[in-house]
Amino acid sequence: MATRVDALYFFLVGLTVFFSLLIAGLIVTYAVRFRRRTPDSIGARIHGGTMLEITWSVIPFLITMGIFVWGASVFFAMARPPDETLNVYVVGKQWMWKFQHLDGQREINELHVPVGRAVKLIMTSEDVIHDVFVPAFRVKADVIPGRYTHLWFEPTKPGTYHLFCAEYCGTRHSGMVGQIVVMEPNDYQTWLSGGAGEGSLASAGQKLFADLACNTCHRADAQGRGPVLQNLFGKTVELTSGEKVVADEAYIRESILNPHAKTVVGFQPIMPTFQGLVTEEQLLELIEYVKSLKQDTSNVTQ
Ligand code: CUA
Repeated sequence: MATRVDALYFFLVGLTVFFSLLIAGLIVTYAVRFRRRTPDSIGARIHGGTMLEITWSVIPFLITMGIFVWGASVFFAMARPPDETLNVYVVGKQWMWKFQHLDGQREINELHVPVGRAVKLIMTSEDVIHDVFVPAFRVKADVIPGRYTHLWFEPTKPGTYHLFCAEYCGTRHSGMVGQIVVMEPNDYQTWLSGGAGEGSLASAGQKLFADLACNTCHRADAQGRGPVLQNLFGKTVELTSGEKVVADEAYIRESILNPHAKTVVGFQPIMPTFQGLVTEEQLLELIEYVKSLKQDTSNVTQ
């Protein structure tokens, strides 16, 4: 995004400089040129100038609309990640950044990503509001407890980049920093394979799913007391209230912590809450497990 953000930014700076100089220059020029030359001289009375007024209204209008359309296009590009992204979960807490790769690698205050691939961060907080800010990538987004926010970027050059928390979050807010390490794809593969062999996030979720006995109600064969989770992620779900919602990360999280908030049509509100029983990181594992049920139906026989 850096090129696009900078282009807009420098255009705005240039525009501001141009009009500041133009207006200041005209003020000085006219003050000198039309100054009172004799003590008894009286200025001419001038009434209206329709063409002039239309001109100085229409030109700024067109310029500001241009800025609006340009700014909106950059905003939309930042808000909409491409379809294919490398997803990394981020959990902010006082005062550190925890990164969780889908393959199971965990990192603190350091995130390794490959160059040339779109990376999407799916972020939440364990305590207060934090804010991920990577100045070199020109990206920044709040990290909010109880919600998932997203941010995406595509690193174009290997290197190490600063990561800051950009929302005052307590005593050691200024120490809540880290770095993004952008690596060549081969180095990244090496780094990945050198990581902890804890298994993927989805497999950890699958284990947790069984440990918490979720599988007794959420069965794959539609005979369970809870909705089938296979191929659920990203689909639209109809609720008993008649409302329709998309089964995204936030929906799954809410359904685990506050199951009665959105009851799926055709089911009884009998699911117990798991509030306090699962951590933010375990929630991410469960979400990733539900997502994996979308792509691959072979590992859902339990
Ligand atoms: Cu976290 Cu400031």
